[in-house]
Amino acid sequence: MEKKNIDWANLGFGYVQTDYRFVSNFKDGAWDDGILTEDANVVINECAGVLQYAQTVFEGMKAYTTQDGRIVTFRPDLNAERMAQSAARLEMPVFPQDKFIEAVIKVVKANEAYVPPYGSGATLYVRPYMFGSNPVIGVKPADEYQFRILTTPVGPYFKGGVKPLTIRVCDFDRAAPNGTGHIKAGLNYAMSLHAIVDAHKQGYDENMYLDAATRTYVEETGGANFLFVTRDGKVVTPKSNSILPSITRRSLIQVAQEYLGLEAEEREIPLEEVKDMAECGLCGTAAVISPVGKIVDHGKEICLPSGMTEMGPITKKLYETLTGIQMGSIKAPEGWVVEVK
Ligand code: PLP
Ligand code: COI
Repeated sequence: MEKKNIDWANLGFGYVQTDYRFVSNFKDGAWDDGILTEDANVVINECAGVLQYAQTVFEGMKAYTTQDGRIVTFRPDLNAERMAQSAARLEMPVFPQDKFIEAVIKVVKANEAYVPPYGSGATLYVRPYMFGSNPVIGVKPADEYQFRILTTPVGPYFKGGVKPLTIRVCDFDRAAPNGTGHIKAGLNYAMSLHAIVDAHKQGYDENMYLDAATRTYVEETGGANFLFVTRDGKVVTPKSNSILPSITRRSLIQVAQEYLGLEAEEREIPLEEVKDMAECGLCGTAAVISPVGKIVDHGKEICLPSGMTEMGPITKKLYETLTGIQMGSIKAPEGWVVEVK
C-alpha cells in the first residue's frame, strides 16, 4: 500500500482530511451497524441538540507504525470506557465498547495510507465523537445521536517539539467540584478557549488550572494532565475528581513503577509545593509528555531545575519508555497494544 505524499516530519497538530470516517446513528433506542464513508461533512437539523445545548463528547487516541511495520493503537479499551462514562454523564446513549474498538480498527485500516511511517515523528490521531442530532428546543437530552470517528495525521501538539514550555497559573477555572471536569465533553474545551487565547496573548504556552473551590491545588491544563518529579526522584501526579483521568498519565505511573523502578503516586499537589519540584511535564495523547520549564504565578516565576533547553532526565526516561512501548520497540504490558494490521 502506497503512503500519501505528506511531509510527515513537518506536520503540526492540525486537521488533514483523510479518505474515510466511521459513522453510526442511534435512533429509536438502538445503534445501527455503522459504515465507513468518504463524506467528511455532517448534515444535521438547525435545532440539533449539539448545536443548541452542546450535547457532545469525544475521545482522542493515536495509531502508530511500529519498527517492524505493523500498525497499532494504544489501550483503546480505556478510551471506549471513558467515552461511555462521558456519554452517561451527559445523558447520551453509550456506544458499545467492543463496537468502539472494532470501529477504530476499521477506520484506521481504511486510512492506512495516512498512518505516518515509523520514525517520522508523526502519528495518526483518531478522534471518536458523539453528538445529539435531532431537534431539541426545551432543555433535555436528544433522542437521536451520531457517533463518528475521524482520523488525521499529526505532528507534535506544541510547536517546537520537546522544547520546555512556559505556563501560567490561570485565574479562570476549568471545572467545578461536582461538574464535568472528569469527562471529555466539548463544553469543557469551549470554556477554556478564552483562557488559552489570553495565555497566548500574554506569551504563555498553556494554563495551569487550580481547583475551583480553594484555588490551592494543581489540577491540569486545557488538554493534558500534569506530571511532576520531586527532588528525590519520585513521580507524582495530581489527584482530583475534576480532572480528566488521562490514559497517558495512568500508563506513565505504571511505567515509572514497573519499568523504571521509581516510586510513583497520585495525590493532591498544593501549588505551594510546585517550587520544590525537580521536573514537570504535561501528559496526554496529543501532548505525549511535553516538558515544562517555567511556571509563572502572577509575576512570581517558578523555574524548574531541569531548565528551558531540554526535558528533565526522568521525564525523558518516561517519554522514551512510553513511546518505545507504543511504537513496539519495548515490550508492552499485556493488552496495552492492539494491532490494527
Ligand atoms: N486532560 C485533558 C483536559 C485532556 O483533554 C486530555 C486529552 O485527552 C488529557 C488530560 C490527557 O488524556 P489522555 O492521556 O487520555 O489523552
Ligand atoms: C488529546 O490529547 O487527545 C486531546 O484530546 C487533547 C486535545 C487538547 C487535543
